[in-house]
Amino acid sequence: MVTGATSGLGREIAVQLGRAGWRVALTGRREPQLKEAAAAVRQAGGTALELLGSVSDPDAVKAHYALIKEAWGGLDWAVLNAGGGDKNNAKAFSAANLTSTIATNLFGVAYWMEAVIPDMVAAGSGTVAAVSSLAGFRGLPSRGSYCASKAALNTMLESARIDLRPAGVRVVTVCPGFVKSELTDRNNPAQMPFLLDTPDGARRIIRGIAEGRRLVHFPWQLSLPVMYLLHNLPGWAYDRIAARLERSKRPADAPAEAAKQP
Ligand SMILES: NC(=O)c1ccc[n+]([C@@H]2O[C@H](COP(=O)([O-])OP(=O)(O)OC[C@H]3O[C@@H](n4cnc5c(N)ncnc54)[C@H](OP(=O)(O)O)[C@@H]3O)[C@@H](O)[C@H]2O)c1
Repeated sequence: MVTGATSGLGREIAVQLGRAGWRVALTGRREPQLKEAAAAVRQAGGTALELLGSVSDPDAVKAHYALIKEAWGGLDWAVLNAGGGDKNNAKAFSAANLTSTIATNLFGVAYWMEAVIPDMVAAGSGTVAAVSSLAGFRGLPSRGSYCASKAALNTMLESARIDLRPAGVRVVTVCPGFVKSELTDRNNPAQMPFLLDTPDGARRIIRGIAEGRRLVHFPWQLSLPVMYLLHNLPGWAYDRIAARLERSKRPADAPAEAAKQP
């Protein structure tokens, strides 16, 4: 099962699993895109089950899992990928923005974990793989809500991994760098180093899960500096670097403002 399978990484993961002959349940809120993605899975050679609804609605999640159990008896992989988030610069901090981001990125994973884990524990097998982000390792400027949601997700998954290992259930944390998708199409391409195309990103995620890795991160050129250097920098040094990066971005971020300059 892949949540957020109507576009970007989720859609591509579903299609690639379909190509490998898997039965794939797909979730998403946009019906036309959901139908199109399910058709692409079938065309690739897989079996598709469409589940229309939001991951942040616990009743919808319960209903979706009941349909999966009815159709297939259970799940081998729960790929909890649905997510996103808009900027939330603290100069105009929006608690509503934080609430909706956490509702999708954290609770959207939590509701699915609550639904699927008891059966996986009873079976002594199964994989929960949630798509987090390298953005969870440090507070990025203007991205407080998104970074907070992914940081919380990382620690929640880490605890679950330790709890569930003795029961035979694997928990995988996926931390991509920049991958082309509807989410990143809203960003300035010049500010996305080592941007990967969607099929490449999806391939790396599937391979990482299949190889049994606990943490899937890529591309190494970005993930290693973020996870092992930036993450461990003392606060004063990180603040200076982040402020400098932010200043260097400003002209591209605010062309209208730049145009006003004499
Ligand atoms: N692309 C990157 O560079 C990148 C980097 C790091 C992490 N990520 C993470 O990768 C995941 C996939 O993002 P993407 O880049 O592929 O973006 P995307 O193309 O915008 O896809 C996001 C998917 O999540 C679904 N979604 C959002 N809110 C939902 C909700 N409440 N219920 C159900 N589905 C919901 C969307 O479907 P509907 O709108 O139809 O519901 C869509 O299918 C996200 O968790 C994102 O944070 C992406």
